[in-house]
Amino acid sequence: MILDGRSAPIVLILTSIAWREAWKYRDRAYRYCLHDIGHAWQALALAARAMGCEVSATGIFPDDEVTQNCRLAEDEWPMLICEMRGATIPLREPDATETVWNGGQANRLSEETIVYPSIDGIHNATKLSKLDTSAAATQGAQADSGEVRLPPASAQRTFGETARMRRSALNFVGGAQSMSLPQLAAILAAASQPFYADFAGARFIQLYLYAHRVDGLPPGVYRHWPESAKLELLRIGDQRVAAAGLSLGQDLAGNACLAFSMIGNLELATQIHGNRGYRYVHFEAGAIGHRLYLAAEALGLAGTGIGAFYDDDVHRYLSLTPEQGQVVYHFAIGYPVPDLRVNA
Ligand SMILES: Cc1cc2nc3c(=O)[nH]c(=O)nc-3n(C[C@H](O)[C@H](O)[C@H](O)COP(=O)(O)O)c2cc1C
Repeated sequence: MILDGRSAPIVLILTSIAWREAWKYRDRAYRYCLHDIGHAWQALALAARAMGCEVSATGIFPDDEVTQNCRLAEDEWPMLICEMRGATIPLREPDATETVWNGGQANRLSEETIVYPSIDGIHNATKLSKLDTSAAATQGAQADSGEVRLPPASAQRTFGETARMRRSALNFVGGAQSMSLPQLAAILAAASQPFYADFAGARFIQLYLYAHRVDGLPPGVYRHWPESAKLELLRIGDQRVAAAGLSLGQDLAGNACLAFSMIGNLELATQIHGNRGYRYVHFEAGAIGHRLYLAAEALGLAGTGIGAFYDDDVHRYLSLTPEQGQVVYHFAIGYPVPDLRVNA
């Protein structure tokens, strides 16, 4: 097997090619890469769960060695290793002597490569060597096991329907239609379920909510405390203009029933994992985002991940001290406007 003699019937290496995001998002692209990995991880883990399999993720690995073993090109970076186990995977026993490489040819997006030194810089600063990974193992970065469930009985749709139907809302129907408090509770419960990964012993993301239209919840800003399943009111009043403004002026964050700022405790992450913790905070945000997508969809709503926001303004608006963390991702949930590209 690719890493340290571990074996699982299927091992998937999730990789990023940063310049494929950088043409659009420039320096900020590295964050999008990490979020995307978090989304892909959860898409995989939840689909595997629906098939009766388990996915465990490994973020603590020596980058260069995995790159070499997987024969990745220089610009393709391994980010997360997902091992899938389960009785229902119909596989023949691999022949130890047989290695089959199915190479592909990526389509060419541009004639020239624009270098973003800060992307290379942050990637290199968050790399691990073989030495680092053995140190991390002895520090006891814990695997957190646990059930990952989609929202309970109130969901009308099966997992398969939900996953196939999920789309990002282009915008939300503003106006009177609201979501219910049980729907919100189910969505938050889905987001709070444990993750199964070697870096998931501690959670780094706390959810802040801009509640616009949730029955029984006065409009305002709330902080979510998952252990007690409670919402703490931080600011009362209509947040639609603020949520849209903070989300780079994107109307969808105000037209939704609900928007989120995901606040990442980067300090805790780096205390536990060193620089590598930066990646894990963003993986967790993406993974939560994916659960929000699926939970919203299962309940007849829709979601949209929002990577574009004004970082410092969010910190000021939420009165965050540096110890409380930094904003790493936004998300909105509500009733989607029809998307003629997919519903025509
Ligand atoms: C990390 C991330 C950031 C995103 N940021 C935005 C955003 O700022 N504004 C927006 O309208 N959509 C945003 N999206 C939604 C994407 O545009 C959408 O996921 C993409 O077009 C693919 O569509 P799909 O989700 O329906 O498959 C984001 C999605 C992700 C995963």
